[in-house]
Amino acid sequence: MSPTGNWSYPTAIRFGAGRLAELPDACAAAGISRPLLVTDRGLAPLEITTRALDILEGAGLGRALFAEVDPNPNEVNLAAGVEAFRAGGHDGVIAFGGGSGLDLGKMVAFMCGQTRPIWDFEDIGDWWTRADASAIVPNICVPTTAGTGSEVGRASVITNSETHVKKIIFHPKVLPSVVIADPELTVGMPKAITAGTGLDAFAHCVEAFSSPHYHPMSQGIALEGMRLVIDNLPRAYATPDDLEARANMMSAAAMGATAFQKGLGAIHAMSHPVGAIWGTHHGTTNAVCMPAVLDLNAPKIRDRFDRAAPYLGIDGGYDGFRAFVQDFNDGFDIPRKLRDLGVTTDRTDDLVAMALEDPSCGGNPVTLTAENLRGLFDKAI
Ligand SMILES: [Fe+2]
Repeated sequence: MSPTGNWSYPTAIRFGAGRLAELPDACAAAGISRPLLVTDRGLAPLEITTRALDILEGAGLGRALFAEVDPNPNEVNLAAGVEAFRAGGHDGVIAFGGGSGLDLGKMVAFMCGQTRPIWDFEDIGDWWTRADASAIVPNICVPTTAGTGSEVGRASVITNSETHVKKIIFHPKVLPSVVIADPELTVGMPKAITAGTGLDAFAHCVEAFSSPHYHPMSQGIALEGMRLVIDNLPRAYATPDDLEARANMMSAAAMGATAFQKGLGAIHAMSHPVGAIWGTHHGTTNAVCMPAVLDLNAPKIRDRFDRAAPYLGIDGGYDGFRAFVQDFNDGFDIPRKLRDLGVTTDRTDDLVAMALEDPSCGGNPVTLTAENLRGLFDKAI
C-alpha cells in the first residue's frame, strides 16, 4: 500500500501516488490561472513532463514550458526564465523536477517582479528584506526525485556562471504555496540517481541530527528521516516500482530539508566546492564524504548516535552506525573515494578555501578549520 495524506506542515502538501492529477486544484488554491511550468533540459522530453502539461491544458491552464535550465542552474538560466515568464503574461510558476527545476522555478517566481540583481538577495543577514515582497508570485513545487527536499524550502541554490560559486538565495515567500508529492513521478529514475538523491536526503538528516544547535523539532524529524531512508532506499533501488518505498523516500526527502533548518555540516561544506569545481553529483559526493566526516565528528556525536542506533535497527551504537554507513554506500555502488569521481589533489587549497566560506560550516559539531578540512579532503579524495 502506498500511503497518502494532506499535510499543512511546513507548507500545504498533497501527498500520494497519482496526485499529479490535482495540479489544476493546486493552481486554483494558489491563485494561479496562467502557470509557467519550469523544469530542466533532461526532464523536458520525458513522459512525466508531457503528462503534467496535458493535465494543465485539459483544465484550460495552457501548456507553457520553460526548460533552459542547467544541472547547476545559474543566473543566465534565471534571466531567460524571467523573460519567458514576462513574455507569456504568466501569474505563477509550477517548479517541476529534481533540485535544478525546483530551485530555478522558485527563483523565477521570486525574481519576475524584482529590479535588483539576484546576488543582492543572498542568504546573508537580513538581505532578504531588500526584495519587494508584493512582486513575488506564487509557486507550486512538484518533485520528481526524492532527495533535495527543495519543495519544502524557502531558498534556492544558484551558481554564479562566472565564478562557479554556489550561492543560497533566501526569502520567506519563496516557500511553495502548494506541493504535490506524487511518488509515481520518481519510479522512472535511473538507479544511480535513485541512490544519489536518496543519499542526499540521508546526509541532510545525518547532518541535521549531528548539528549542535538547539532545535528539538528538527532533531526528531531528522531521526525518523534517517530511519525511512535506511528502511526504504534499498527497496526503491532494488525494485524501482515499489510505490510504498518510493513514497517513504519522498517523505524522507521533505523531512531532511525540513530538519536542516537546524544546520548542515562538513559533508555539505565539502560537497558544494567539489561539485562546483568538478561537476560531480551532489548526493553521491555527500555519500563519499560522509565516513570521513563521521570520524572527525565522533567525539561530539557519539552519545546521540548511541541513543539513535537502536531505533535505526543498528547494533553497536555510534560505532555500529559508522560501520553501517560504509556498508550502506557499498550496497549502492557508491565509490569509496572522491578520486573515483574524477577529483584530483591539485585543487585542495581551493577546496579548503571554498569550504570555509560555505554556510554549511556553521552547523558542524566540530569547528571547521583549514587544518581539519584539509585532513577531510585528503582522506576523502
Ligand atoms: Fe544536499
